[in-house]
Formats: sequence, C-alpha cells, structure tokens
Amino acid sequence: MSASASAPPMTNLRLSARFADVGFSEIVRIRNRVMELKAAGETVHQFEGGEPFFETPEPIKAAMRQALVENKTRYAPSSGIPPLIEVIVEKVRRKNGIPAEPSQIVVAVGGMQGLYGAFNALLDPGDEVLLLSPYWTPTRDLIHMTGGRAICVETTRMLAEGVDAALGVRLTPRTRAILVNTPNNPTGRVLTRAELEAIAAFARRHDLVVVSDEAYEDLVYDGEHVSIATLPGMAGRTISVYTLSKSYGMTGWRIGYAVAPEPFITGIKTSVLYSTNGVSTPTQWAALVALRDTPESFFAEQRAAYRQRRDRLIAGLAELGLPVKPVPDGAFYVFPDVSRLGGTSTEIALRLLTEARVATVPGTAFGCSGEGHLRLSYALSLEAIERGLEALRHYLAAR
Ligand SMILES: Cc1ncc(COP(=O)(O)O)c(C=O)c1O
Repeated sequence: MSASASAPPMTNLRLSARFADVGFSEIVRIRNRVMELKAAGETVHQFEGGEPFFETPEPIKAAMRQALVENKTRYAPSSGIPPLIEVIVEKVRRKNGIPAEPSQIVVAVGGMQGLYGAFNALLDPGDEVLLLSPYWTPTRDLIHMTGGRAICVETTRMLAEGVDAALGVRLTPRTRAILVNTPNNPTGRVLTRAELEAIAAFARRHDLVVVSDEAYEDLVYDGEHVSIATLPGMAGRTISVYTLSKSYGMTGWRIGYAVAPEPFITGIKTSVLYSTNGVSTPTQWAALVALRDTPESFFAEQRAAYRQRRDRLIAGLAELGLPVKPVPDGAFYVFPDVSRLGGTSTEIALRLLTEARVATVPGTAFGCSGEGHLRLSYALSLEAIERGLEALRHYLAAR
C-alpha cells in the first residue's frame, strides 16, 4: 500500500496547524458559564475576573469625547500618534527608568497585542520560550499561535534551587526567550531586584531575549517594581509590554504599548500594522491624557483600596482553612492551595460555582505548577468580598 493511500484524508476545510495546541482560555470558559448563570437570574460571587473595580476616571472619558468633537476619527500612523508616543517616552524614562527613544515605542491594542507582536517578531516555528509558572494563561497560547513552544518552569523550583538550576534544565538550542511577568497574574508575586538580576544574568549568558509583561506595574503594595530592561546590558535584549487596562480601569478601551530595541520593534510594529492597523484614533488621544495627566497620588489611592481588599480576602480565607502564603505583594489576585477540598482544581472550581455560586479560576489554567490552587481576584467591592466569603463559609460548613 502506498503512503498516500494510508494517510488520513486531507481536506482544505481545516484549521491551520498552528492552532493545534492553542487553547481557548479556560478563564474565558468559566466567564461564559458565569454569564449563563447570571442570564438565568442567579447571583454569582465573581472572584474569577481580572478587571479593576473602579470606572475609567472622568478626565480620560472627557478626552475621548473631545477627540470625537474635534473629529480625530481618521486613520492615524499605525504605530501610534506622535504626541502619545512622546508621552510614553517620558513615562517609561521617568517611571520605569528605560532610556527609550520614540522609534522604540509602538502603541498596541492592549498588552495582549503587545505580547502577540513580541512573540511574532521573535519566534520561528519550534523556537522555545521559558515561561515561569504559574503564568497568565494566554501567554502560552500566544506563543503557540505564533509558532513557538512554551516551556514551563516552576517558580517554586526557581525559589528553591535558584534561577540557574531552574531555567538551566529547560534550556535547549531552540530556547530564544524568557517571559517575565511581575507583578504576577495569578499569584500576585513581585519578583525582587535580586531575582530579576539573576534572570537577567542568565539571559545575557545564554544570549536570550526577555519579554517583560508589566501589566500590573502600578499595583505593588510592598517592595518595588523593577523593569528588567533597566538592569545592566538588558535594554538591548528586552521587550517590555505595558497596558492601560489595569492602572487606569481601561480594560475595554484596548490600549497598551511596547518598548523594544531593533530588530524587534520593527517586527512588533509590522505585526500591529497587519493585524489591526493600529489602535483606534480617539482612544489614543484619550490614552495621552491618561498617561500625561494622572497624578501618582491616584495610583497610591488605588493601591490603598486594593490592599484593604487583599487583606480582607486573605483573612476570610484563612478563617475557612484556606491560607494564602506568602501574602502576595502585587496585582489583585490570591492563589491559595485548596487541595484539602478534594479533587482536581477544575473539579473544585466547578463544584464551587455549581454548589456555592462562587466563581474562581482553576489553577491548572496557569501552567505546570497550578494544580491544587484556585485564583481569586479581590478587585471587587468590600461588600462583594464579604458576600462571597459568606457563601464559601456556608458551602464548607454544609459539606
Ligand atoms: C499578566 C497580564 N498581562 C497582560 C494582560 C493584558 O491585558 P490587556 O490586553 O487588557 O492590556 C493581562 C490581562 O489580564 C494580564 O493579566
């Protein structure tokens, strides 16, 4: 029998091979189930989300209205309007300490498109990216969608054995990059300067690029946010990705930006050009006002509000025998070990949703060291946190 006779029938009505190992985020699956329950009139305690609890500040909304009044509604340069790029340059120099030039900035449709562009610019089919786990789920899928392979490295192993040992065992001739996400989604962990220095030294020694996802840069409660691009020798090998989603309550506006050296910045700009041809023009004018006019005191107020919520949720979970250790220093998530509830994290999350109407995200959504955990967001009102804890208390008492 010839090889072609035994091969499975091929049809052109098929998805490209690139999608073979690309999931439709487990977080989205849970969100859809929550929406179904709510549509059916159920009350759901929504700890599964990833959005700030406050609305977009008024001056940013006013800037959008003004842009529309002034008919700033035409095509703009696909990499971003020059006045916004100027403001971004000023911000990353002042706040992050990255000595960026305007040519090294691209405005993107959220952090998501910044990361998409970064991996597109970086990866050939089969190239590998070391991903510290637990990681934000879409990162893995973005890597796979752009042809690369995400290689999971347990953060716990890095902490126990050191950066060189943990990353070293996963290093192959195909390794191109390390993804760093601090503060981390889902654990809220903030990498220390010393940890980032060790990762940077590893990257320099093995000639790797670092993709630095700094979506939660403004939400650090204790310690400091360090942009890895500022460490010695790193500006030339780091792609830093930012978003206005979390800092300014602008998740639905879809705007962020990336800072990168050549040749990557041209690759990311090209990726933005041929996917969305840039970010909507009025949104860019509103983002300019957000970045230029928001005082640092605004972020301090947000941090105080989040810290209060974090402490309340952690205290409530501890009372229920679900301790969060160590207390996370950043972002707005906790990632407690819930293995004592029995079953896999997916089973636990489904049980909590079905039987207690408490929505969480199973730890396995976040990579190789997520099992046994659930992610809960505390970007909620204090009252919503109380009500959710009460529902959990009832559920656990009745078991
Ligand atoms: C770690 C992390 N990176 C990036 C993003 C991207 O956010 P956006 O595309 O809304 O800017 C998110 C959003 O949840 C996130 O949690």
